[in-house]
Formats: sequence, structure tokens, C-alpha cells
Amino acid sequence: MRKPFVAGNWKMHGSKASIESLVDGLNAQAGQIENVDMAVCPPAIYIDFVQSSLTGGKIAVGAQNIAEEPVQGAFTGETSVEMIKDLGCAYVILGHSERRAIYGETDAQVASKVKVALDAGVTPILCVGETLEERESGVMEKVIATQIDAVVDVVGIEAFEKIVIAYEPVWAIGTGKTASPEQAQEVHAFIRGKLAGLNAVVADKVIIQYGGSVKPDNAAELFAQADIDGGLIGGASLNADDFMAICKAAS
Ligand code: G3P
Repeated sequence: MRKPFVAGNWKMHGSKASIESLVDGLNAQAGQIENVDMAVCPPAIYIDFVQSSLTGGKIAVGAQNIAEEPVQGAFTGETSVEMIKDLGCAYVILGHSERRAIYGETDAQVASKVKVALDAGVTPILCVGETLEERESGVMEKVIATQIDAVVDVVGIEAFEKIVIAYEPVWAIGTGKTASPEQAQEVHAFIRGKLAGLNAVVADKVIIQYGGSVKPDNAAELFAQADIDGGLIGGASLNADDFMAICKAAS
């Protein structure tokens, strides 16, 4: 049985004051959640602050991106995997659609970052997903398969035991338009089936999160689907009560 995993992607939000109050809220409630792995991914500059403010050991910390270069060097503005590891990060979100669309990250770059994370022992949360246009023009499965194949080609299928996949339909991110549980399940089953074609044992173990306008009132129905193993939460993860309610829905 796969253990559900819920992670909060705080994106570029927060200040010391707002994060302090958010973490206080998480600390107060996290102890009540059982049987769910939980993580929060703050902006890189606040990772250390969050790590040292979290108590109780229930919520892990992740980063939102890393450099493609595995070691330190003359890469102004970048953050290496070793640096996030040094700050205690267990996870890193890679290939988020905002990084792909706004910063032009390619499938090949995402794949190479996944390898860098795995080599350092940090679990990648690999985001995949289609735009509305891709869905409506019938190329959704092809787009997602290409995003996954790029990573399989670089790290091999066995490595997916140590990779979390987040299916995030781009049209559902920050729009309030959640994929219906059936729509999401259909794509999750497609992803797992695709991996099963390469290695059924690995496919059965891989955690596939859903992301895109998950809220306390739709989380339980999404997480009840056979191939949905938790969520990657954006907006709702900035509110401790909402994030904890979503984590509870996964338990
Ligand atoms: O990575 C999480 C994400 O993109 C979903 O954001 O705000 O729709 O929950 P949101």
C-alpha cells in the first residue's frame, strides 16, 4: 500500500512574519495527522527559517527548484542541491509548469535536475501536466508521456521508486478549476500504466500526487481515487487550517 503524501508549494509567497504565523499553525495541528507524509516547500531564502521553526518532526521541508549544476561554482543566483540538503531538505519540486512556462525549462533540463537530486539523495517531486489547449487538441497523453520519458531516459525506470510524480493540469493551477476526481484519476491511471509497461513493481510503488486548486472541500474526493496518492497544494497551503484539513483528508 502506498502511503499518501501531501506537500505544500508556497511558490514565491511569504515574509518572516507571515511564515512564522503559518508555521505556528502547522505546529499546532500536525501532531493530529497520522499515516500521511507531509512536507512544505518554502521559497529558498526561507528554508532555514522554516526548518528551524517547525517542531514535532511530522512535516518535512523541500525546495522549489535547484540548479542543474550539481556542485558549487560560478552560477550567480542559483541554489545547488547540496545547499538545500545542507539545510535539511528531503524534497525538491522539479519541472513545475511555472518553471517550464515562465523560465523555459525544457524536458531535458528537468530530467537532468532529477538526476542531480537523486544523486544527492534528495527526493524529486517531478511535475507533469498538460495545458488546456493540449487537452482539447487531444495530445494530453503524448505531452505527459514525453515529460516522463525524458526523465526515464536519463535516470532509468528503477529510479522512479525514489521519485514522486505530481500530475498538475496547467489549466487547474491557481484557477479554482479543479480537475474532477474522474478526470484526475484517468490521467493518474495513464501515468501509472505507462510506468507499469516498463516495470510493474516500480509503477505500483510510485507516489502520484494531484495538484491544481486542491481545497479542503474537494480533497477527500480526489484522494479517494485509486491512483491518487495525495496532493501538491499551492494556494491552500498558505493557510495552516486549510493545509492541515487537506492533509487530514489524505489520512
Ligand atoms: O504546485 C502546486 C500548484 O501548482 C497548484 O497550485 O494554487 O492551484 O493549488 P494551486
